[in-house]
Amino acid sequence: MIVLGLETSCDECSAALVEDGHKILSNIIATQIELHKPYEGVVPELASRLHTEWISQVVQSAIAKAKISIDDIDAVAVTNRPGLLGSLLVGVSFAKGFAASRNLPFITIDHIRAHLYASQIEHPLEYPYLGVLVSGGHTVICRVDGYDEIEVLGTTIDDAIGEAFDKVAKHYGFGYPGGVAVDQLAKKGNPLAFLFPGPKLNVKDHPYDISYSGLKTATINQLDSFWDGKSEKSPENIAASFQRAAVNMLIKRVRAALEETGLKRVSAGGGVAANSYLRSELLALQEGGYEVSFPALKLCTDNGAMIAALAYEYLKDGVRSDFYESASARVTAFKKQYSK
Ligand code: KG4
Ligand code: ZN
Repeated sequence: MIVLGLETSCDECSAALVEDGHKILSNIIATQIELHKPYEGVVPELASRLHTEWISQVVQSAIAKAKISIDDIDAVAVTNRPGLLGSLLVGVSFAKGFAASRNLPFITIDHIRAHLYASQIEHPLEYPYLGVLVSGGHTVICRVDGYDEIEVLGTTIDDAIGEAFDKVAKHYGFGYPGGVAVDQLAKKGNPLAFLFPGPKLNVKDHPYDISYSGLKTATINQLDSFWDGKSEKSPENIAASFQRAAVNMLIKRVRAALEETGLKRVSAGGGVAANSYLRSELLALQEGGYEVSFPALKLCTDNGAMIAALAYEYLKDGVRSDFYESASARVTAFKKQYSK
């Protein structure tokens, strides 16, 4: 089964063709980064307008790259939540039109679930596993019992991890997009130049919850309080110290969740799963006997392949969406998305 997967929830306009959930025939990602760069952040109205202009061409490129005919497409999948509403609507409307005109099955896909599923495309892990979703909009530690069975164990109580990377980079002028800029600078910096503390949350029933607004504030406004007193206050040292703190506080919770749930496997996904320090810290879990999986770099940030791949799982089980289904900016509850 060849599924066309569309992703337009933020600033990437992506279309992919994936065969039987695992064979990526094409995965075109047209990024709007350069067009949002002057504003140092994604401008929602601009994003949706660009998606409108680009989507048809992006889909045509995906078909050409896959070296298939349009008639070979068996189903159409599209991200419909959460994200920027205007951007989501472009993808959803295009997908509906495409599916209706060709009489194909149509299915809407949750963006967060797709990020969590992305590692399964190339390195399938046996269920259950601990899922770690780290993106620009979300930070979730969860138990994953199946592609549609996710139980949230912990989440950020304020900013997402990617948002903290982006805001720190923006404040210090490290470059845009911020996560990649911090990652690059950090490679040349001293991670102990500034010792930022982890959040002290009143955990009780929520031991795996996390917070990034304190670290963001500390890095931006209170740098001197955490300085070692001798290292240079250079971009490299700030980036490395911030990154170490941001990742270590997450890994601490991941380790605790693995120990306390008894899960033996862990899988990460989302844009921040592309971070080199986070990847190395996750791989270090293997020393404790855990199986670790994360997506290839291109499948960490937003892409249509993860949408098509997850859609295949639902479609195979006979799940379809109807054309009344619309887009939503909101995160839905993590119960089963499609009850059978
Ligand atoms: O998953 P994604 O493309 O979009 C959302 O669903 O939010 O994630 C984007 C986020 C941004 O905050 C970006 O700065 C961050 O992922 N990111 C990174 C890296 N690459 C992307 N953060 C840290 N290190 C990276 N290498
Ligand atoms: Zn995303």
